[in-house]
Amino acid sequence: MAIEIPSYVSDLMKTLLNSRHECFVVGGAVRSALLCAEVHDYDLTTDALPDEMKEIFSSYRTIETGIRHGTLTVLSEGKPVEITTYRKDSTYSDHRHPDKVEFTSRLQEDCARRDFTVNALCADIDGNLYDFFEGRKDLKQKLIRCIGSADERFDEDALRILRALRFAARLGFQIEKKTSDALRRKKDLLLYISAERIRDEFTGFLNASGCAELFEEYAEVFEVIIPKLKQLNEEEKKQLFGQLKRSENDHILRLALIVLAAGSQEEIMKSLKMTNHEMKDVSNLLSLSERPLDTLSDIRRIKRDLKQDFKRYALFRYALNEKTDVGQMMNLNRMIIENGDCYSLKDLAVRGNDLKELGFCGKEISERLNQLLEDVIDSKLANEKEVLLDSLRYTKQ
Ligand code: CTP
Repeated sequence: MAIEIPSYVSDLMKTLLNSRHECFVVGGAVRSALLCAEVHDYDLTTDALPDEMKEIFSSYRTIETGIRHGTLTVLSEGKPVEITTYRKDSTYSDHRHPDKVEFTSRLQEDCARRDFTVNALCADIDGNLYDFFEGRKDLKQKLIRCIGSADERFDEDALRILRALRFAARLGFQIEKKTSDALRRKKDLLLYISAERIRDEFTGFLNASGCAELFEEYAEVFEVIIPKLKQLNEEEKKQLFGQLKRSENDHILRLALIVLAAGSQEEIMKSLKMTNHEMKDVSNLLSLSERPLDTLSDIRRIKRDLKQDFKRYALFRYALNEKTDVGQMMNLNRMIIENGDCYSLKDLAVRGNDLKELGFCGKEISERLNQLLEDVIDSKLANEKEVLLDSLRYTKQ
């Protein structure tokens, strides 16, 4: 069995081979190719030392940000490919970075320092596989298993605890027993990991299809990164797990469910270093979590205040309560769109200037505009300039 390697990658491999070096595709690309999944990026591993790589690729556009760790990014046909010198294990006293970077000339040693068997598969330029740690067997059995001692792997880089959960959730794999025991034992090491790295893995986890089941099974691990979850009683936990099971693969929606259950939305979102945009989306969903959903007016009013996709909101409400009729919500939304209903100030048939001409001024203008919009949303007034102006004239008298 061999995998296919695109020419923009094999060109770089050929360049290294022509300089009498070894070079293999390694990691996620091989794993994904064997699972017939889309390959996003190709990582190469080589025995060429960083200075040798720089020399060999001197005619290419390169990025040297990772060079101290042995990684040179080379642009091939405009696409970035990371090429890393074979490295071997070193000690990790801070549980996140090796104390020193040590290069090796042996491919097997480079594979041995990696996290999981399914991430240590390699392919040569012809796509032939090199599998030192039975990664293919684990792929077939759908298992995430640490290479060698799981305790050591998690001691080296505690982020791997979350990586194991993310891969298991995304690929629909189980976590092998020894790996899962170690993962629970070592969970507190996550406290050594920067919030940014946790955020990236946790976001990937929340976007994955197996997220809900694993969140329940490994709740104690997630309590390390979101301590507020510890305060939930059994009933509240059960409710959150049920909501997550009904939710789509959407990290914003799932974060909203988690922070709604745990409380302290600001604190959690900030501690996870979520972006302002993500914070706004989550708090926008939460602010609308109890709105009525039954009539066209209800949905228009929600659309006025919703700053994101309506479908996400409908699915959020369904996750919160399985009795929510998403089909009806989507139908009402479609009717509003098809009829061109007005639900925001920018679509209202009158503007501030129209009100000025009638003699309104200052704060009164925006108050009146908002009241007109409420009446239009409730179908009490048609969204027509004369109708709206008449109603203003009437109330001003
Ligand atoms: N790796 C590791 N320990 C880590 C991070 C990465 O051993 N903490 C190794 C694994 O061999 C991994 C490779 O580096 O396959 C590349 O890492 P990364 O790009 O983060 O993951 P991928 O496996 O490529 O998966 P994806 O890009 O889909 O997340």
